[in-house]
Amino acid sequence: MKINKTNSILVRRQRRMRSSQFSRRLMRETVLTTDDLIYPVFVIEGESQRQTIDSMPGVERLSIDLLVDEARELVTLGVPAIALFPVTPASVKTSSAEEAWNPQGLAQRAVRALKAALPELGVITDVALDPFTTHGQDGLIDDTGYVLNDDTVEVLVKQALSHAEAGADVVAPSDMMDGRVGAIREALEVEGYTNTKILAYSAKYASSFYGPFRDAVGSAAQLGAGNKYSYQMDCANTDEALIEVGLDIEEGADMVMVKPGMPYLDIVRRVAESFDTPVFAYQVSGEYAMIKAAVQNAWLEERAVVLESLLAFKRAGAQGVLTYFAKDVARWLTEEK
Ligand code: PBG
Repeated sequence: MKINKTNSILVRRQRRMRSSQFSRRLMRETVLTTDDLIYPVFVIEGESQRQTIDSMPGVERLSIDLLVDEARELVTLGVPAIALFPVTPASVKTSSAEEAWNPQGLAQRAVRALKAALPELGVITDVALDPFTTHGQDGLIDDTGYVLNDDTVEVLVKQALSHAEAGADVVAPSDMMDGRVGAIREALEVEGYTNTKILAYSAKYASSFYGPFRDAVGSAAQLGAGNKYSYQMDCANTDEALIEVGLDIEEGADMVMVKPGMPYLDIVRRVAESFDTPVFAYQVSGEYAMIKAAVQNAWLEERAVVLESLLAFKRAGAQGVLTYFAKDVARWLTEEK
């Protein structure tokens, strides 16, 4: 049988199913929907304030009133949840981050405003000290600058409780201290916040893709030449990610996260195959910046590239994605219907 001729007989032709739109649709394994999206937002003090972020074109820091308007739009578009990041004024930053658990802090007030206006929108808060410390680290440090684990966990518990008290639906520890999920879970149970969910940044890598975020929350200047290698994971490791995820689940995490996203889809896949707990991934600020920069140069087509990137997260096994593109994506998906 000659198989290289034009009219050769090929029993198996993988292209057959690709030849019509209907059959492509029928065999599609993965879908991206608005239900998969979590929108990270930056909140600032003041009223009617909006600030652009140079390294994140299209993303703005918003004061609480404007954030509520933005959130209303997200609800209309069907986005299930937002992840809130406060931009703390330098004047309230201290070496021991007391502002982190101030019941009247910016994050706590933002949560109250959002839950009052839009009770159906899931509000996720970040549990870590970096927006509140003068040194920009996620935890408390000793004289040598080393981030202290157990002391940090103690105050992270206070921070998480203040978020729950304000009405946060989900607290998301992004600090990478050992034992913090267990400590937070126990405190939530004891204080009666039994339905407050924990989304653990379980496999969070010491990545260079967080640069624009650190500009956005203003922790870059504080951190200076500092780094987070003593608590965030080494980018070379995968087995360690499974250990971290396993521990967080044992300690009471309802959802786990892999971060960054696109360069770490192998980790998403391994976590999804190894555990039944829903796994989320964070398409972080640097990933957003890369795509935006290429789009601004007309080197990539935004909508197609963003949708493809998010579909890839789903294909890898993510239950959902934190992405700065969430609002655009929700709009595009609505238009497609
Ligand atoms: C800090 C935190 C970071 C991000 C989310 N929470 C930065 C860091 O660890 O330095 C990064 C998110 C992004 O880059 O979009 N607790």
